[in-house]
This record gives sequence, structure tokens and C-alpha cells, in this order.
Amino acid sequence: MFKKLNILDEKEKKLRASNEDVTFPLSKEEKQLMYDMLEYLHKSQIEKYASKYNLRPGMGLAGPQVGVNKRFFVVCHEEYEGEFKYYIVINPKIISTSEEMIYAYGGEGCLSVNREVEGIVPRHARITMECYDEEGNLIKLRAREELAIAFQHEFDHLNGILFTDRINKKDPYHDAENMREI
Ligand code: NI
Repeated sequence: MFKKLNILDEKEKKLRASNEDVTFPLSKEEKQLMYDMLEYLHKSQIEKYASKYNLRPGMGLAGPQVGVNKRFFVVCHEEYEGEFKYYIVINPKIISTSEEMIYAYGGEGCLSVNREVEGIVPRHARITMECYDEEGNLIKLRAREELAIAFQHEFDHLNGILFTDRINKKDPYHDAENMREI
């Protein structure tokens, strides 16, 4: 049965709190929560489920957004039309980033930010992370373009940062000419 998650709004303190490392092995409940989060994201990106369950489409969710102040996030990425890839990212470290910067056309969105926000969010075009999967295996993830943006956005959540914090308030399109729009 599909479980609709309670996603916290940006005003909630838990989104700004510090997050602890996840310890292994994961409990059954922790693992289940991660799978539920992925299912939520997957369904949110498929029109018929999104309208059936009234879901706003999202690509990623981090622990604090569902009220768990631990360092993990999940991403459901439509790599090719109709083909989704799932990522469970635990205790991540960003080990390298490209110099090239990009931003998402139309700005970023977040399932915790329930309003329109204008402006661009500068992100690295490519990043490499070291993290653990849900079985506790150390893995390396490389991402570029849209997926790299999603990873950086979710990684920020683990440090209490929202995408809105990264928009230049006085000039929401500041420096756009030095970045590539995707
Ligand atoms: Ni978000």
C-alpha cells in the first residue's frame, strides 16, 4: 500500500537542526523509511499517481524533511524517459567538484518549500561523493547535470541549508552569465 509521507515545511525547526551520522546496521524501520521515500518520489513523478494522491513532483528527499535528523537522503532520477534510477545516500562526503558551475532553468524546487521562489541556485556541474548504501557498503557516486544538482540540493539539507538560502536576495540572477543553464 502506498504510504503518503508527512513532509515538513520550511518553517519547521527540524529542517535547520543538525543531523547525526547514520549508524549501521540500519534498523528495519530506517530501511523501510528510505524505500518509502523513494516510492513517494517515484510516484510523484508519474502523472497518474501524482494526481491520484495529490503529490507535488520531486526528485529528492532528505532525512530531516521527514523529521529524521540523520545524514541520509534519497534521489529518484528519471535517467531516460520512463526509466528511473534510485539512489540511497548515507553519510555522504563530497570528495570532488567541477569548477564549471550550472543552474537549473526555472530555478529549483523543494518538497519542503511550498511557494514560488525566484532566482538561480549556483551548483557544480559535476560532483563525486563517497557514501554508504543501505547495507553499509562504502560506495562512490559520480553525477553530472541534473543529478549533480539534486545531490548538492539534498546534501545541503543535511547541513540545514535550503536552496532558497543560496539565491542572492538582492540580485536573484546574479552571475548567471558565468554559469551554464541546464
Ligand atoms: Ni529540498
